[in-house]
Amino acid sequence: MELYALLKQDHERVKELFGRLEGAPGAEERDRLFRTLKLELMAHKEAEDGTFYAALSVLPEISDRIEEALEEHVDIDELLDEFEEMDEEGSFAGQLAELREEVEHHVGEEENDIFHEARELLTEEQAERIAEEMQAAKERLAS
Ligand SMILES: [Fe+2]
Repeated sequence: MELYALLKQDHERVKELFGRLEGAPGAEERDRLFRTLKLELMAHKEAEDGTFYAALSVLPEISDRIEEALEEHVDIDELLDEFEEMDEEGSFAGQLAELREEVEHHVGEEENDIFHEARELLTEEQAERIAEEMQAAKERLAS
């Protein structure tokens, strides 16, 4: 699959999971969906950091933006960790809203800025190779 389509597919999957989580009928379903969301976000981070961002971070035209995006990945990771420290049931919704806001901000930056710039900066062959590497990284993480 084409690189940008592949990344957008990740974003769509995560968006859908947030929607389902917000409407989850019980704690069991909610916990199951949350585990899926967490794995999805962690795999996205690992795969993207090591391939797409690694290729872009060496290009001076975009390296600052990529630095920011990498920091956002760390912020998302930290927000995910905070779920483990939560004890009250009531705080789940608040924590989830915070995570969603951070993820949506990050996705917006990618889709509205980074992808456009990357299309200019990377050749089609590079983008193709990155897409392959990213898929391979995700498969490794899933197994
Ligand atoms: Fe990302």
